[in-house]
Amino acid sequence: MAQFSLPEPQPDPLLQLIAQYRADTRSDKIDLGVGVYRDKHGNTPVMEAVKTAESNLHGQQQSKSYLGLTGDLEFVETLGNLILPNSSATVLGAQTPGGSGALRLAAELYHTAHPNGTLWVGLPTWPNHLPLTESTGLKTATYAYFDQATQRVQFDSMLQAVQSAKAGDAILLHGCCHNPTGADLSLDQWLTLATTIANRNIIPIIDIAYHGLGKGLDQDLAATRLIVESCEQTLIAASCSKNFGMYRDRTGAVYMAAHDSKTAQRAQAMFGLIARKIYSMPPDHGAAVVRLVLQDSVLKNLWLDELSTMVQRVNSLRAEMANQSPHLNFVATQFGMFSLLPLTPAQVDALINTHSIYLAGDGRINVAGCQPEQISRFVDALNEVGYQGTEK
Ligand code: LMR
Repeated sequence: MAQFSLPEPQPDPLLQLIAQYRADTRSDKIDLGVGVYRDKHGNTPVMEAVKTAESNLHGQQQSKSYLGLTGDLEFVETLGNLILPNSSATVLGAQTPGGSGALRLAAELYHTAHPNGTLWVGLPTWPNHLPLTESTGLKTATYAYFDQATQRVQFDSMLQAVQSAKAGDAILLHGCCHNPTGADLSLDQWLTLATTIANRNIIPIIDIAYHGLGKGLDQDLAATRLIVESCEQTLIAASCSKNFGMYRDRTGAVYMAAHDSKTAQRAQAMFGLIARKIYSMPPDHGAAVVRLVLQDSVLKNLWLDELSTMVQRVNSLRAEMANQSPHLNFVATQFGMFSLLPLTPAQVDALINTHSIYLAGDGRINVAGCQPEQISRFVDALNEVGYQGTEK
């Protein structure tokens, strides 16, 4: 009989941390692992605006029949207007299963249009960026984005990568709240980058997964808006997982923002056709809920208030960490949920095993996972494992 032989599955390290944390019975455990927001009780609550929209949807929905390959286009348009209001580009897209679905469609579309193109990715990056984009058959090249020891963005290396890229290559950009470093470009650097990318005919693919959780919604979207205005064509992968707290509902959208409308129209149709070959159509619920929130001014304002409470909490935790340890000063200068501590794998293991403090293997912490009263234990544990902070 033919054997059905499979290689030993290698679990995703970030998602494995969730299971490891859950199985830990120590009562003082701290979860700084996977990137989900936590409130002051350590919960990841359903936002009030979302709850209200869900109950409205429950009352209103007349049918669950198919919507089509690009999903809920009213949601796509409404979210598109939030991300790129008054854009001079034509912005068309498709609803996707989360930001990952959007990234996959963006990578597939790019690969179809530029079969010999290379996608440039700055390291470190979200660990799934390379597997997800390379699974389309796309070639990738990497450059150094960030130096962990000094906690500085290596902007020169980024510009050099853009200079050495061929016309028609693509570059994957984190629109804000860089994952895993929390270190974004300054507005001046974004301006330089936008001009260089545009001049060299490089296609930006922007991943926006944490907008609203850094400096506030508009500031977090400023770089994306700037790139779209500067470049002929920009692909955007947008997630509602974090800023709407819709993680498991898999809510996102992919956009082509193009300065010729025909390209945007073709891209939109292609997104649907690509989706057809992978999952056919996206799940409806999350997108319908986000649409109801964004189309109702009362719910939208409630959501914006809730989002601003979240960002205030994250930024006050950042300030408190820096306050309690000079070795964490840089944490207060970074944005979004993550910072990348210069820790060795052995130090990360000791934090998890000896101190029940969970963080990603590369030293990434999810700041939102900490409670203010846990910061001193975190700082003590860092000292105990020999954490030295950054180079002076
Ligand atoms: C993270 O980076 O922790 C999140 O984006 C969750 C994930 O899917 O990896």
